[in-house]
This record gives sequence, structure tokens and C-alpha cells, in this order.
Amino acid sequence: MSSPKKLSPPEIVARQLEDFYELRRKIVKILTPRNEYEEPSAEEYREILDSLQENLGEMEDAARQLHQFYQKAEKRLERVLKASSSIWTRPTELEPEKIPQFTPIENRPPAPGGDKTRIVSFINLKGGVGKTTLTANLVAALASGNFRDLDGRANRPARVLVVDLDFQGTLSQRCAEPLVLQGAYEKGLTSTKLLETPGQTQATFDELTVPFLGLPNARLIPADETLDDKDVRRLNELASRRLETRYYHRIWFHKPEIFEKYDFVFFDCPPRLTASSVCALLASDCVFMPTAPELFDVNAVSRTVNWFGKTRKNLNSFLEFGGAILNRTNNEKGLTPLEEKNKNLIKLACDDYRVHFSDASERSAVLDVFIPRRSGGNYVNGIAGGALPGASQPYFCRLATEVYRRIYQ
Ligand SMILES: Nc1ncnc2c1ncn2[C@@H]1O[C@H](COP(=O)(O)OP(=O)(O)OP(=O)(O)O)[C@@H](O)[C@H]1O
Ligand SMILES: [Mg+2]
Repeated sequence: MSSPKKLSPPEIVARQLEDFYELRRKIVKILTPRNEYEEPSAEEYREILDSLQENLGEMEDAARQLHQFYQKAEKRLERVLKASSSIWTRPTELEPEKIPQFTPIENRPPAPGGDKTRIVSFINLKGGVGKTTLTANLVAALASGNFRDLDGRANRPARVLVVDLDFQGTLSQRCAEPLVLQGAYEKGLTSTKLLETPGQTQATFDELTVPFLGLPNARLIPADETLDDKDVRRLNELASRRLETRYYHRIWFHKPEIFEKYDFVFFDCPPRLTASSVCALLASDCVFMPTAPELFDVNAVSRTVNWFGKTRKNLNSFLEFGGAILNRTNNEKGLTPLEEKNKNLIKLACDDYRVHFSDASERSAVLDVFIPRRSGGNYVNGIAGGALPGASQPYFCRLATEVYRRIYQ
């Protein structure tokens, strides 16, 4: 028989089984009571016992190997099965000195506006709640100076960079000039590149940005469909523990040249846990959660805030919860009784998880300013890039003021 080492565990076992069945036939023959009982000779007994002994040893080896093989496969299966839920928030296995550093706000160089850059994510695991609309309009309000500072004074326009992290590219298509966007797509200069380390990709950071329509103080990193594939690959690499992929945006954005160039970096995230949205959270100082004031949205709020809490606990202790922003309310002047009720449910859902956050008791989990539903909430390209119709703008100025205060207080 050839050495078991040269065969794969299943092959070894197959061989062993053949030998074993042969042996079994002999043993059965000996042990089966028959009328004409024929006792084997001592010689025959020894032969059978020897080959049994030899077979047992080899069977044991094969079984051990097969067992190891089984354990490995089982572990991989377990990782793949768990990948969908917990993988993104589990603590890193990198040595502490190898974890890409989060630059605390106080250690950053001054931003163009004189204060320090703030990196902010807009996330809700529910789709269509207005993440992109609110992000685009907040960029417009901040970059055109349509907000008040902490003392209630009018503010100078801020320098804002907004990053589209949804492969659908809604923000990109609504807020970038179509030809410029086409050019960026053809050259592959999109947020997909952010899922490679700066050393891996030829593109410089500035090459990844395009102008934001109608706003000289804002720029945008667009997204396209290539991001979907890259997000999935990065997930698989993390799941099989081949590569720690969650710090990439920290590597890209926590750099003096970014801090010196922008007052705000905003991430418009997809309604899913993707490599990009996780990377955004690990690079962010603060996260806001746009939501509708509807009962069906409360579950998504719980799931989303639960994820923020785990991320803060395991991966980014600097992350603060900015609050939930109510979008598409029924009336302009105030919330309906039902919306008030849902607002309280949203608050409660947030408070369950906000215990992880340092600001938990200081302010309401839901912002005071809300954005009413506008019939045909279309974007007006070219005026205040991606903004809702002009009549909504006072709401966004107030929202930008409250967001600004929450970010800076
Ligand atoms: N306040 C509003 N009034 C009217 N329409 C709105 C309002 N906010 C958003 N919309 C519309 O709702 C739709 C979804 O909005 P948006 O794309 O901003 O949501 P999202 O949360 O970013 O979606 P996704 O999860 O797909 O990224 C868009 O057609 C948008 O124009
Ligand atoms: Mg969106």
C-alpha cells in the first residue's frame, strides 16, 4: 500500500475501507457459528491479528487526518455563515502597532475654516429614507455658507468633500456634471479605488475628486458599479481572515493634506453593511442617521444603532452618534401626533444602544430640525447641486446649523 501521506484524506479512507472489508470477511468467517465449525490454525490467527493491527494503525492515521480536514472545513463554513451578521464588527486581529491610526481631532492641523476637519458618515440600513438627499443638501448649505455657527452668526462657506459609497451612484449622478462623471468612470477614478491602499493604486487623492455642481467649495468622489464587486471581495477576504480590510478609508482620509484642504468630509453610505460603509465608520468622528418618522423604520433604526455601538466598542472608540434626522414629515410646521409617537420610539431605540457613546445623556437622539415631504422632491441640478426645490432650502439651512452644532459641541 502506498504511503498515506501522498493521498488526500478521503482517498486514504477509501483505500482503508477496501482493506477493511477484506479483513472483515475473514473475521466474520471465523466468528460466525456454523455447524461445520472449522477452527483456524494458530498460524492463520496470527496472520489475521497482524493484518488487523496494521490496518488499525493506518485507519487511525487516516481518521486523524480526516478529522483535521473536517475541522478546517467546519471552521471555514462557520466563518462564511457568520460573515453576514457579525464579521464587520468583530475586533481586529492586527497587532496593535499595525492598526492604521485614527488621528484624534486635537492632533489635526487647522482646516481652511480655522477649526479642525470633521469626518462624518450618513447611514441607515434602510433604503430610500433620504440619506443621499440630506447629505447632498447639507453639502450645499455648508459649502454656500447657509448656516449659523455656534454663536448664531452667519458663517463663511465651508470646504466640503463628499464621498459616494453606494455603487448605485445616486449622489454622483445627481451632483456631478455628466461629462465629467463619464470621464471619471472611464478612467476608473471612483470610490472603488478607496478599497485599495494608497500604495496599491496609481491614482492620487486629488485625481479621485470631481467638482460638485454649482458649488465651488465642494468636491465629490463618485461611485460606480465596480464598487459592488470590490465590496464583496473585501468582505470575503475579511471573512476568510486573509486580509483586514476595514481600515482602508482611515488610511486614505486621516492625512494632513486632507485635513488642511477640507472643513468637512462626508460619506454618503449605502443602505447595507458593505466594506465601504464599514470603512467609513472606522474613519469617522461622527455618524448621523436619516430616517422617516414611520413605524416601519424603527426596526432599521435599532439595527443601525446597534451596529454603531458595536463598531464604537470594538473598532473606533472615537465615533460619536450625531443623531437621527427625520425626513419626509407630513407637515411643514410640526410633526403629526403619530409622527411624534414614532419619533419617541426612534429615540428609545437609539437610547438602547447609545449607552456606548460618551454623549448619551447630553442631547436628544433625534434632531429638532426635520425635513418635510416635498411634492416631487426632485433635485435641482446646477443651482445648489443636488438640492431639493428652493422652498426647502430654509429647512436645510436650519438642519445644517443643528448638524454643525452637534458636530462641534
Ligand atoms: N423630503 C423629501 N421630500 C420628497 N422627496 C424626497 C425627500 N427626501 C427624499 N426624497 C426622495 O426620496 C427618494 C429616495 O431618497 P434618497 O435617494 O435620498 O434616499 P436614500 O436613503 O439615499 O436611498 P438609498 O438607500 O437607495 O441610498 C428620492 O427620489 C428622493 O428624491
Ligand atoms: Mg442613497
